[in-house]
Amino acid sequence: MMWIFRYFLVYLSFTNLVTAEDQCRKEINIRGMTLKGFVFKRMTVAAPRNFDFLCEREIICQSYNFNRKEQICALNNRTKDARPENFRSDPVWFYIRRLNGKAPLGSIPELPARSCREITASEGKNTASTKYWLDPSGTGKAVLVYCDMNLEGKSSLGHR
Ligand SMILES: *[C@@H]1O[C@H](CO)[C@@H](O)[C@H](O)[C@H]1NC(C)=O
Repeated sequence: MMWIFRYFLVYLSFTNLVTAEDQCRKEINIRGMTLKGFVFKRMTVAAPRNFDFLCEREIICQSYNFNRKEQICALNNRTKDARPENFRSDPVWFYIRRLNGKAPLGSIPELPARSCREITASEGKNTASTKYWLDPSGTGKAVLVYCDMNLEGKSSLGHR
């Protein structure tokens, strides 16, 4: 009787894993969507291949939009999570989040956030309370500011 139970448990955890992985993949590579307004580099690439490396060699790259028809790869300095209002439906595009070596938003002066709240939106609820690079009014000059994430990024610089 015991072994049946054990196999049942193994089966359960396995199906959980598969479901989590599927969800993850959907979250990472989304067909028919594009992030508007945060493209810092756009390029046309002749042969179809894996475009992840184009994003991964840019320190500020957070995600990219890929146009399969015209073979255009547009690198974004934000994720859709940071800017959900700029995430738009467009059938010819794919949205792909950077998988490897993504610098957290606000962690380097080259990639300042607009606000502490934008950092929690981008990096998740468990983001540490510490100093981050912010450029609240988008002047191009980043300043190091303490973000209290227990206030969910609603500090004095919490607005966008
Ligand atoms: C991100 O890209 C936008 C659009 O090109 C640009 O205006 C902005 O300055 C960039 N921000 C950073 C932090 O690179």
